[in-house]
Amino acid sequence: MKEKELILILDFYGQYNQLIARRVRECNVYSEVVPYDISIEKIKQKNPKGIIFTGGPASVYEENAPMCDKEIFNLGIPILGICYGMQLMTHFLGGKVQKADKREYGITHVNINNSSLLFDSFDKNNDFLMSHTDFVEKLPEGFVNIAATSHCPNAAMENKQKNLYGIQFHPEVNLSINGTKVIRNFLYNICKCTGDWTMSSFVEESVKNLKEKIGDKKALCALSGGVDSSVAAVLLNKAIGKNLTCIFVDHGLLRKNEADEVENVFRSQYDINLIRVNSQERFLNKLKNVSDPEKKRKIIGEEFIRVFEEEAKKIGTVDFLVQGTIYPDVIESGLGKGAVIKSHHNVGGLPDYVDFKEIIEPLRSLFKDEVRKTGLELGMPENLVYRQPFPGPGLAIRIIGDITEDKLNILKEADSIFREEIAKANLHKELNQYFAVLTNLKSVGVMGDERTYDYTIALRAVNTSDFMTATFSKIPYDILEKVSSRIVNEVKHVNRVVYDITSKPPATIEWE
Ligand code: XMP
Repeated sequence: MKEKELILILDFYGQYNQLIARRVRECNVYSEVVPYDISIEKIKQKNPKGIIFTGGPASVYEENAPMCDKEIFNLGIPILGICYGMQLMTHFLGGKVQKADKREYGITHVNINNSSLLFDSFDKNNDFLMSHTDFVEKLPEGFVNIAATSHCPNAAMENKQKNLYGIQFHPEVNLSINGTKVIRNFLYNICKCTGDWTMSSFVEESVKNLKEKIGDKKALCALSGGVDSSVAAVLLNKAIGKNLTCIFVDHGLLRKNEADEVENVFRSQYDINLIRVNSQERFLNKLKNVSDPEKKRKIIGEEFIRVFEEEAKKIGTVDFLVQGTIYPDVIESGLGKGAVIKSHHNVGGLPDYVDFKEIIEPLRSLFKDEVRKTGLELGMPENLVYRQPFPGPGLAIRIIGDITEDKLNILKEADSIFREEIAKANLHKELNQYFAVLTNLKSVGVMGDERTYDYTIALRAVNTSDFMTATFSKIPYDILEKVSSRIVNEVKHVNRVVYDITSKPPATIEWE
């Protein structure tokens, strides 16, 4: 079989490293992010069609500045250096990098010299995001200038003979109009890629590999109802059919009707071996009187594993355990930096006591949007594939304070009304995440002639592309009014509804 085309992305700690990988994949070429100090041997083994250096916060003159092996420039593989990557290329190849007095930041007008393959079919004037202090003052020998801004004369450079390219701006961010076109030109004009990365080829190849690897042996998968584990399960089912068993631990903290919907899809559409364990009571008992959000997360995570283990033991020895790990998890855990704001782990970490020989992570190389496309490719329903993110600990972290069955029911009803009205208003595709929160606050209200003293529901809706930052959604007042009026009328023990108008940062998306 023909070897899959690969672009290696050397990570110099740029904040946009994942975005670069995604853009490359959007151009139908497979990409992998690797540490900047990857060995030359490893690169040769991987045999990439091209290499991209990411940006990064360092200056090439800093002590301990991240440096790759200089030999990389002699491999004959095309290289595109972005920002710090361009400066590093310059530094290694004999040019000069200089510190500027001022940082150049923001969307910047870039003048392009159209004769470069990198800017094939570009107009002369373009807008790209610039974010740098150092700049290339003198090009290395053999390079020519191919773009400039008013502050940065060497905004892009090329050595056409050696297929080496540098750009000071960031083509990977959405703000850079036509940024993806620069990447596409690099891939197709310079690296001579043909674009063999599609989700149908991924499914075909994965099914073949999984069949080969698992053969007649048995695999076990923990289903959470979320997109990743669902797609992993369906993919495995396609490869090994009834040799896969899925355990769906219903902790009772999913949204209204959600557990039944998940079960129905798997039973009716895929004929998957499915064990549903209804364990709401067990979880509620464990969570009794617990208010601390991190404690809730921990209890739910641990209990989930315990239930899963008990069920798995009934099945006996299995050979493989399936996990729904996806590529951002792999990249992020590889870098392992930054403060823990919330212990964002999905329910269903790795069980210790399940008797299995090997872990299988069929989605390990995919970004979230690719996981969704894979789901569609496998014929999964859109409402499951495009489900908005839902935290592993579920509604437990949307009830502030301690959790009771009554509170859960109040929240499920209010949340369901909110979702229903958003769908009716056709806003569900516009908002990236929206839900109700049961605040622990009671306040005075009036219902008919009666004084009430009941709960406050908060509505939360955000727009975001990466969930790291988010802005609150500007839902029209008439829709909020309708939701509010329906909630106070239809949900007992709620007499007040508020809308959360904070962005992230400083708030987070979830309230706990
Ligand atoms: P925050 O609240 O940190 O959330 O702004 C960002 C995204 O992560 C989700 N989230 C979680 N997901 N387990 C998860 O699987 C968790 O404990 C958890 N906490 C937050 C949140 O829904 C949002 O999409």
